[in-house]
Amino acid sequence: MFTMLKLIAVLVLAGAIPSYSQQNNYITTGFGSPVSYKDASLTVGRRGPLLMEDTEFIDEMAHFDRERIPERVVHAKGGGAFGYFNVTNDITRYCAAALFSQVGKRTKIAVRFSTIGGERGSADTRRDPRGFAIKFYTEEGNWDLVGNTVPVFFIRDPILFPSFIHTQKRHPATFLHNADMQWDAITLRPESTHMVLYVFSDRGTPDGFRYMHGYGISTFKLVNATGHHVFCKFTYMTNQGLRNLTRARAQQLEGSDPDYAIRDLYQAIRSGNYPSWTLYIQVMTEEQVAQSSFNPFDDTKLWPEDRYPFIEVGRLTLNENPTNYFQQIEQIAMSPSRMVPGIKPSPDKILQGRLFAYPDTQRYRLGPNFLQIPVNCPLQDVHNYQRDGPMSYSNQGDSPVYHPNSVDSLNVSQRATQLSPPYSVSGDVYKYDSGNTEDNFAQPRDFYENRLDEAARINLVDNLAEAISAASAPLQRRALNLFGNVSADLRSRLQSRITSQ
Ligand code: HEM
Repeated sequence: MFTMLKLIAVLVLAGAIPSYSQQNNYITTGFGSPVSYKDASLTVGRRGPLLMEDTEFIDEMAHFDRERIPERVVHAKGGGAFGYFNVTNDITRYCAAALFSQVGKRTKIAVRFSTIGGERGSADTRRDPRGFAIKFYTEEGNWDLVGNTVPVFFIRDPILFPSFIHTQKRHPATFLHNADMQWDAITLRPESTHMVLYVFSDRGTPDGFRYMHGYGISTFKLVNATGHHVFCKFTYMTNQGLRNLTRARAQQLEGSDPDYAIRDLYQAIRSGNYPSWTLYIQVMTEEQVAQSSFNPFDDTKLWPEDRYPFIEVGRLTLNENPTNYFQQIEQIAMSPSRMVPGIKPSPDKILQGRLFAYPDTQRYRLGPNFLQIPVNCPLQDVHNYQRDGPMSYSNQGDSPVYHPNSVDSLNVSQRATQLSPPYSVSGDVYKYDSGNTEDNFAQPRDFYENRLDEAARINLVDNLAEAISAASAPLQRRALNLFGNVSADLRSRLQSRITSQ
């Protein structure tokens, strides 16, 4: 029974089974009964009033009244598509995950791209990092790689996330975006400098979704068949080439075509111009972690490619548009906590905080049975002892509801056990604030001096100067001091552009 429901869900999702009303070619109520008349409600006389017995009206209106679900607390505006992942290089010496088991192996994927700070109706081209999340439907469950399009993050402790996001949203009194809130938070937490430079470079206004790289940012642990592990960062590079918009063009599109990126992706796929990305890993052994000059679990740092080279893994291709946006994109639930045997969390504090936040918000946003929504369902049957709750669609029939039991023959997977070897941690329990105790400026300096060419530096200064100028004079001075720690040249260029300090 359970398997049959799941099969139907998958087939409906894939568009293989038409919905009931398509089969019958007439309009129905939500409970499937043919509607008698659709363009007028039931009234006493021509001028009304309405009758409570108009169940067709009530069915229609009551559903409409409940159409909106909460938008994502971050990454509210987005678009997505489906496709596949193809393994092109053998990484089984690092990772035993089934999806990487063979060169040539293909796994179905779903991808959602998003802006971070804007609301569900906001413009696609606003300056912001973009989200780039991938769900892999593997034969050992769903693996979500939830990344962004710049390689580093604002903070290195998840407890700062809610406050930091509040500064990117609206002021509590005016309901306006507020430059003082933003520059106050940025300048009080210097670890944000690296990401701020990326976001204010033209990487903060990518030309749609197809021309951006993706970065898992958080560090994971890969386990191979012998139980040996390495730490890992994931990167997926666009095969279309990086392409960004200038500030002027991005601002123009905010007004003239606010859904620019969603439209571009949809049209490209519809015309058979399938975008693709190459997936890479970088790895670090325990010994390399011990010897690293920086904390490899700090999300404000990238792992330099010359020391930790990119190892190709495979190719991601998007070749299928959604057939129903709400069902397949709005309701998709991505979370770094969704891992498969062979992929584990590292001690990365941001990752550890994320492991809690995503499923927590999804239980609120979509309801506790959100994993039964077809786009979130794994390909294989779910066997566990979770039951009931609102909207339970696959309630696992009459199988036992408790563990251990003497009725079912289910056991844990030997393979999953082998790929979860014990590991040690030690240390003094304390609230360690690393805002000023770790190096916050060496990698931002490298970004400014070596990763940008002169044209890109000019645009960075221009973009930053405009944003800082919107803040009050004391915050402008603080921002200048912050960027002075990156480079005297950057500070003096900004100083000459910001007049009010
Ligand atoms: C402490 C750090 C973070 C917290 C607490 C956090 C929390 C969240 C939450 C609550 C959501 C909404 C999920 C939903 O409603 O389905 C979300 C979405 C998202 N986050 Fe984070 N996040 C953090 C850091 C990051 C980082 C470092 C990345 C990139 C590597 C990232 C990428 C994303 C993406 C791409 C989405 C949208 C997923 C989708 O398309 O549905 N986040 N985050």
